[in-house]
Amino acid sequence: MERYEPVLLPAVENLHRIDIYEAHGGYERIRKAFTMSPAKVIAEVKASGLRGRGGAAFPTGLKWSFMPAETDRPKYLCVNADESEPGSFKDRQILERNPHLLIEGILIAGWAMGIGTAYIYIRGEYESWARMVERALAEAHERGYIGARMRETFGTDYAIDIHVHRGAGAYICGEESSLMNSIEGLRPYPRIKPPFPAQRGLWGCPTTINNVETIANVPVIIERGAAWYASVGAEKQPGPILYGISGHVNRPGVYEFPTGMLLTELIYDVAGGVPGGKCIKMVIPGGTSMPPLRGDRIEGVRMDVESLKAVGCGIGTASLIVMDEDTDLLDVLTRIASFYWNESCGQCTPCREGTGWMFKILQRLQGGDGGPGDLDLLVSVAGNIEGNTVCALGEAAAWPVKYTIERFRSELEEHVRRHATKRSTGGPIRTLAGSETRIPISSQRENP
Ligand SMILES: Cc1cc2nc3c(=O)[nH]c(=O)nc-3n(C[C@H](O)[C@H](O)[C@H](O)COP(=O)(O)O)c2cc1C
Ligand code: SF4
Repeated sequence: MERYEPVLLPAVENLHRIDIYEAHGGYERIRKAFTMSPAKVIAEVKASGLRGRGGAAFPTGLKWSFMPAETDRPKYLCVNADESEPGSFKDRQILERNPHLLIEGILIAGWAMGIGTAYIYIRGEYESWARMVERALAEAHERGYIGARMRETFGTDYAIDIHVHRGAGAYICGEESSLMNSIEGLRPYPRIKPPFPAQRGLWGCPTTINNVETIANVPVIIERGAAWYASVGAEKQPGPILYGISGHVNRPGVYEFPTGMLLTELIYDVAGGVPGGKCIKMVIPGGTSMPPLRGDRIEGVRMDVESLKAVGCGIGTASLIVMDEDTDLLDVLTRIASFYWNESCGQCTPCREGTGWMFKILQRLQGGDGGPGDLDLLVSVAGNIEGNTVCALGEAAAWPVKYTIERFRSELEEHVRRHATKRSTGGPIRTLAGSETRIPISSQRENP
């Protein structure tokens, strides 16, 4: 494995403190950005090839260029720190260990798009991380890096305010339009698109939403240049990336490396392999919303958008969940299905009903009351959700079920056969039509 020097999470003690951050070149990148025109900053981010780290890998410079340059309406930036995807825990490393990098990234993004107000939307459960960010913001304010005093500090006409907005513990609030509704104090239903946020976002004004890690990459691009950035890692999705590795590995954690690392390199060399030297049954490479891969098919697969697409998968949040040979896949699917059912906002029927059906069918199979036909039924329900919903939570719920069945069919059939003590004859409607439409709270709490 080649030597790599981290730039998002460098090994500098107390980097979260502003004096240490400044001593390592902090807030020099925004000074440099002010010597460039906003259009030049956007061009640089475009040329770098940076793609969003929040799940969809959308090109960041392109997204920024959708914001109107001339408008009499206020413009907003929302930094998405909701980080609720199961398996994903990388953004909080930036909030904790390098919050000024994020703040400096917001200043540069703000200058590039002419934004006057930014919100950092932090998931409700991240209480201590919200406090860490607030502390960093207070330090930056005191130094005159944020707010009206910026004009004096940097000698420009530009100023931006940055606020922390705390979520209340709903996964759906990480979806960008739901996040905006939440900030506005509305019920966080995802909005139908178009219009896209750059046209009508927060309070109907032009808005850009970016993930924490995406924004943290921006000062690095300004400091080292687009050409350097584009030369790091995978060609179609370059740059440094935070890999969150969890599950059956000896050293779980968040590791910074270039994009395009081999899955096997990450699991065996970086995360220390599987405890007890067991075989890998399944890997979910991008958080639970992404299709899983068979353990015997990961050889030679790289962690970047194009390589994962080629094997029917996605990079998502680059959060690898490793499962060894003893893993009960029905158990895994039931837990995942339970999560999406609980987190479905209920706005559209295929997701509201379908997530519940999938969970109930899986529970039935686990309880030994199902039959082999239930696997096809699950695929059919998943297929009726996919592509028929307002937001991508529908696909997030459907894909793990659909692809695990597709890729582990014979194992699941065998599992069902062994557990089938009784055969259900009425299908899921009979089961679901009873008075119980939601699992009891006590058992919901046992679920992830
Ligand atoms: C149900 C759902 C949950 C999401 N949760 C998050 C999240 O916690 N953090 C995040 O950055 N993006 C999340 N996203 C993606 C956002 O909608 C959006 O694409 C992203 O914040 C854009 O940032 P990026 O372009 O920098 O990746 C979620 C999407 C969906 C459909
Ligand atoms: S897909 Fe699910 S979470 Fe998304 S809007 Fe529809 S019901 Fe809500």
